[in-house]
Amino acid sequence: INDRRESLYIVSGFASKFFQQQMFETDEGKSIGLSYFKERGFRDDIIKKFELGYSPDVWDSLTTAATSEGYNIQFLEETGLTIRKDNDKFYDRFRGRVMFPIHSFTGRVIGFGGRTLKTDKAVPKYVNSPESDIYHKSNVLYGLSFAKKAIRDLDNCYLVEGYADVLSVHQAGIENVVASSGTSLTVDQIRLIKRFTENVTILYDGDDAGIKASLRGLDMILEEGLNVKVVLFPDGDDPDSYVQKFGSAAFKTHIEQSKKDFILFKTGVLLKDAGKDPIKRAGIIREVVESIAKIPDGIKASVFVRECSSLLQIEERVLISELNKIRAAKN
Ligand code: GTP
Ligand code: MN
Ligand code: MN
Ligand code: MN
Ligand code: MN
Repeated sequence: INDRRESLYIVSGFASKFFQQQMFETDEGKSIGLSYFKERGFRDDIIKKFELGYSPDVWDSLTTAATSEGYNIQFLEETGLTIRKDNDKFYDRFRGRVMFPIHSFTGRVIGFGGRTLKTDKAVPKYVNSPESDIYHKSNVLYGLSFAKKAIRDLDNCYLVEGYADVLSVHQAGIENVVASSGTSLTVDQIRLIKRFTENVTILYDGDDAGIKASLRGLDMILEEGLNVKVVLFPDGDDPDSYVQKFGSAAFKTHIEQSKKDFILFKTGVLLKDAGKDPIKRAGIIREVVESIAKIPDGIKASVFVRECSSLLQIEERVLISELNKIRAAKN
């Protein structure tokens, strides 16, 4: 069984090398893939470090190259790099895309994200490897193998939404950055971060309609006892575009000036959403107190009670009695 997983690692490593070679050594790769990354402002050293590549725009370039090198089609299929059709035909999952290999936190290639170069809205922007025996999405953070030392040294982890955000922020010299890559954050990902730090700063895209929906999911970070801060980027920007436009000093200043404690951020978002509606406002109180109840540290919790009481314009004792009700119900 271990041999089988080892084979999946090896074929993924081969694919990563293949995509790099296609990008650096073919005319199509250079003129389409490499020039795309350059136009986005990625430097050579970052392109090399993150092992970015290009998948040619034909049906089966990887599958053909790999099988003619003796790689077993079964392992290509199990990693999702090759897709089987009508039982005996095979084609590549990634075609005509720039490739972002996804590494385990020890640095082995376990999957890929592939970005289209087309602007056609009907084409999915990113195609990702499916789950496999070496790639469990809920347990992976993009960029962690490159970030873990800085996360530990700086005792803080920046969590961004996308591959490009990780690359640009890292390139700007800020190396303690990882992405959840499309999936909403999981408990396993939180525990992965917790091996290196207890402090997480979430950097949200400014274009995001999904922020409100993601807020409840984030309560689990509180349950794990992490300190969570949230930063919003200006409308239309994400960490990648912001740091590329304004540079790393402005990026850090933006974070310092606009970071909010998660619970206060959540309270603010909910309040804005509720407007003056008294019933909605009452609902917020409950929701906010439920978040506070998840904080294991009582002293931290009482600080949030005080700050939320002023934000919500509600007496502290009301919040405390709600908090006690929730705690009693849990026991
Ligand atoms: P760029 O346009 O390359 O800067 O991408 P982005 O990272 O800014 O993308 P966006 O903010 O739209 O999405 C964040 C992350 O969600 C991406 O990095 C992907 O991991 C994932 N994602 C975005 N679009 C898709 C999609 O069409 N399909 C899938 N499966 N994932 C996507
Ligand atoms: Mn498994
Ligand atoms: Mn987004
Ligand atoms: Mn982006
Ligand atoms: Mn984005």
